[in-house]
This record gives sequence, structure tokens and C-alpha cells, in this order.
Amino acid sequence: MATDLRTRMGHVELPNPVLTASGCAGSGRELAHYFDVAKIGAVVTKSVMLAPRAGRPTPRMAETPSGMLNSIGLQGPGIDAFLQRDLPWLLSRGARAVVSIAGGTVGEYAELAARLSDASGVTAVEVNISCPNVEDRGQVFACDPDASAEVIEAVRGRLRYDVPVFAKLSPDVTDIVTIARACVTAGADGLSMINTLLGLTIDTITMQPVLAGVTGGLSGPAIRPVAVRCVWQVREALPDVPIIGMGGIRSGRDALEFILAGAAMVSIGTTIFHDPSACVRILRELEEEMASRGVERLADIIGLAHEPHPAPGRRLSGSSL
Ligand code: DHB
Repeated sequence: MATDLRTRMGHVELPNPVLTASGCAGSGRELAHYFDVAKIGAVVTKSVMLAPRAGRPTPRMAETPSGMLNSIGLQGPGIDAFLQRDLPWLLSRGARAVVSIAGGTVGEYAELAARLSDASGVTAVEVNISCPNVEDRGQVFACDPDASAEVIEAVRGRLRYDVPVFAKLSPDVTDIVTIARACVTAGADGLSMINTLLGLTIDTITMQPVLAGVTGGLSGPAIRPVAVRCVWQVREALPDVPIIGMGGIRSGRDALEFILAGAAMVSIGTTIFHDPSACVRILRELEEEMASRGVERLADIIGLAHEPHPAPGRRLSGSSL
């Protein structure tokens, strides 16, 4: 029997739980050379801002052990070009579009939400309140529950009621559950976890920081246990809130780990840079991982690791526990 991979993004149903991670696939166009973008759960776009933006000076990317450090500085075309060019392209391909937005002020987020409310074909909005590459940490809304709530409330208030709002959280906080709760109370329909961790790498030959922006966001396999921990903690506190889990997923088994921790969806990011068709491969692998455990429906295993009994597949296959 075919595995039922359907999942829910608030009240919106997706055919499967594998999404791109914001910032790792532009607006999806580059990926279309490698696979049919309509086949994955959704394309999550690079965070779009109100105005076009050139981003930070180069170098913007650096390799680290098991991870990547980046400081792009929210380079992008701005909302007008996005709505004229990028969103229609995604829709013409039959892809579901989750639009990531970023602003410098609450007013900018509200304006972006208003612009998206007038557009048709937006599956959901992911509110990037956790970009690490800003001038000072005081500007990272997701580091403060009240600032996070203000942004989410402004977005929710401006967006059409039928478009789910997901808040993207930072792991660089003392208690992520406090931030998650503030976002949900302010009207978030779901949570995306995690954004990159703030990092720094120094070239020991030049004796200077490698990145022109000095600090950058760390992603890749190095951050996976941190991400799984965040998903777990929030699922434990807010079991009914849908979560998009992300951070260093490279295989279907990695995706399964996030789902067991409580993610209803997963986003694939850094691994796309060396394997552009990773999303469809991971989707296939996830289906195989489920089938080999006798799991027929994705919905049956979301958050299963929180329940103190053996996984159904283990019982079904009769293997010893
Ligand atoms: C940017 C970089 C990130 O690592 C991130 O998580 C969000 C935004 C950027 O610089 O554009």
C-alpha cells in the first residue's frame, strides 16, 4: 500500500512534508533544472523585503567542520519584483509557495503582509524574525518574546485569514519555548525551527575574520541536534501547533528524526548546495524509512518520540525491542 505522506500546515493540507528551507533555493527557479518543483510539499522562498537589496560585501560564505557559515545580508529583489516575476513563476509550475518575509521594523513586516494579502496563490507566509545578519543583536526580534509577538500580530492582522502564518525562530535564546508561546499567542498558526546559529570563523593566515560581515549564520549537519532539541521542547509545550523542522537534514532518516521529535514538515537547506535534487531524494528516502518500519501514515508518527511506547513499525515487524 502506498504510504500516506499528507500533512497539515495549519488548515492547509500538503501532499507531503518535504519543503525547501528559506534562502537555500532562491525562489525555486534554479531547482527546476533538477526536479519538478510541484512534487515537493512546498517551496519556501528566500526572505523577501520591501525594497531590493544588494546584501553584504563578499566573502559571504565559509566552510566549517560539518557546517556552513553565511552572511548574505538578505540580498533580494524586493516585494514588487517578487510579486511580478517570482511568485507567478512558481504558480505556473504548479508549486505551492510559502513566502518568507523579513523586515527591519514592525511596520515593514505589516506592509509586506498587506502586499501578500492582495496576491493570490500564497500557500503560507513564513515570518523571518530571526535573521542573524543584522547590524546588532537588538534587531533580532526572535530574541525577545514581546518583539516577536508584535511582529506576528502585525502580520496576522494584515494577511488574509486563510493564509497560515509561521514564525521562524532562532535557537540563540535562553528559552525557545517562551518565544514560541509568545508567537502562538500573537496569532502564529505554526512555527519554523530553527534558523541558523550565530557563528564566527577566523583565517589563521590573514589573522582576520573570513566573512566580510564578520559573524554569520551556521547551518548544516553540525546544528542538527540543536534543531531536534528545539523542535522537541516546543512540541512538548505546545503539542497542537504545527512545526516545520529544519537544521542539517541530509537524508530521509534525518527527516524522520525531526518528525518523531514533533515536526509535521521538514525543510531542506544546506545540503541543496551540493545536491540540488536533495528534496526529492529525501522524500523518497523518508517514504522508504516509513515503509521499512511498517508505518502507513505520516500523521501517525508526528511527535511519536514523546510517547513512552515502542514505535508501531517495531511491533509490526516483530523485531525485538
Ligand atoms: C541570512 C542568512 C541567514 O543565515 C539566515 O538564517 C537568514 C538570512 C542572510 O544574510 O540573508
